[in-house]
Amino acid sequence: MRKIQMVDLNGQYEVIKEEVNASISKVLETAAFINGPEVHAFQKELENYLGVKHVIPCANGTDALQIAMMGLGLKPGDEVITADFTFAATAEVIALLQLTPVLVDVEQDSFNIDPIALEKAITPKTKAIVPVHLFGQCANMDAVLEIAERHNLYVIEDNAQAIGADYTFSNGKKQKAGTMGHVAATSFFPSKNLGCYGDGGAIFTNDGDLAHTLRGIVNHGMYERYHHDVVGVNSRLDSIQAAVLRAKLCRLDDYNASRRAAAKKYTEAFSGNKNIVVPQMANGCREICDTCDCHVFHQYTLRILNGQRDALVKHLAEKQIPCGVYYPIPLHRQKAYLDERYKEKDFPITNQLVKEVISLPMHTELDDEQISFITGTINQFIGE
Ligand SMILES: Cc1ncc(COP(=O)(O)O)c(C=O)c1O
Repeated sequence: MRKIQMVDLNGQYEVIKEEVNASISKVLETAAFINGPEVHAFQKELENYLGVKHVIPCANGTDALQIAMMGLGLKPGDEVITADFTFAATAEVIALLQLTPVLVDVEQDSFNIDPIALEKAITPKTKAIVPVHLFGQCANMDAVLEIAERHNLYVIEDNAQAIGADYTFSNGKKQKAGTMGHVAATSFFPSKNLGCYGDGGAIFTNDGDLAHTLRGIVNHGMYERYHHDVVGVNSRLDSIQAAVLRAKLCRLDDYNASRRAAAKKYTEAFSGNKNIVVPQMANGCREICDTCDCHVFHQYTLRILNGQRDALVKHLAEKQIPCGVYYPIPLHRQKAYLDERYKEKDFPITNQLVKEVISLPMHTELDDEQISFITGTINQFIGE
C-alpha cells in the first residue's frame, strides 16, 4: 500500500507536472513576476468559473479577509459576528482592524454558524457577519442573508475551505460558495481544494464600486501610480502561483469529485458504527451527491461519540495513519480572543465538537486500499 498522507500534493503534482513546469518556465522566461498575464488570465478564469463579476487576487486568505473588511469601510469598535468553531484567521483580522469579533456557536450537523445564535448576538454596533463555509460545505445562507438584510448588515463569506461548493437556496436556486454575500475571501494555501505552491488568496464581489476600492487597497491604496488615496497594503498574487492555479482550476470540479468519491466510501464504511457520526449534508442534499458540489470535502470530519477521540488519534499515529483535530480549542477560549461577554453556556455545540471531532486523510489521490485500511483500523478500534 502507498504511504497514507493527510494531503498528497506530490501525487497530484505528478499528474499535472508537464503542464505546470511549462507554465512556470514561461513565467521565468518572460520575467513578468508580479501582475503578469498569468495573474490576469487566472482572475478572468476564476470569475467565469464562479459566476462572479470581480475576482481580486491577493497574497493569502488572511489578507483577503482583512482587505474585504477594509474595503467595506468598517470602523474601530464596529462588531463583526462570526463562528466560534473556525480557524483563527477569521477572528484575527477582525481584531487586527480594531473591530470587535463577536463569536457565536455553530450547528451540530453542519459545523457552521448557528443562525439563531447569530441573530441573538446582534447589537446596535453590529455591522457585519462572517459566515465560514467550514470543511467544504456552505453555512445556512438562506438564514444568514435574510438576517443580514433585516438588520442591514454586510455579509463577508469566509470561503477558504469551500471553493467550488454549490449552495442550494430553499427556492432551488444554486449558487457557488463565495458569490452570495457582499464580498468573499478565499485562500489558495497548498492544501486547500484549489491550492497553489506557496501562499495565495483572492477576494470576490459582484459590486463594481467595491471591487475598484479593493483593487486599490491590495496595491498600497493606489488607483493611479504614486497617488495613494487610501491606506492600503501590499498583497499580490505572484505570476508563478497564478500559473499553478490555472492548471488546477480547470481540474477543480474533478478534484472535488474525487474528494466526494473518497468521502462516500468513508461514509459507507462507517455507516453501521453507532459511536461514529459521519459528516451530514446540510443544504438541500440528503446524502453525498454524484450530481452536485453540495460538499467539496476540504476536510472529512467525524464525530467520535464514546469519548475515545483522543485515544483514536494516538492509535492512528501508531498505525501511521495521519489525522487532524480541527479545531481542538474554541476561539472564545483562546487567550487572544477572550471577552467577558462570552459565557460557556452560550457555546454548547462548539464545546462538544472540540472534544469529538477528528479529520481523516482527504485529498484527490486516495485509493481504495488506503480507504479500507483507514476505515478498518478505525472501526476495529472504536467498536461498532
Ligand atoms: C477558514 C479559514 N479562513 C481563513 C484562512 C486563511 O487563509 P491563509 O492561510 O491563506 O491566510 C484559512 C486557512 O487555513 C481558513 O481555513
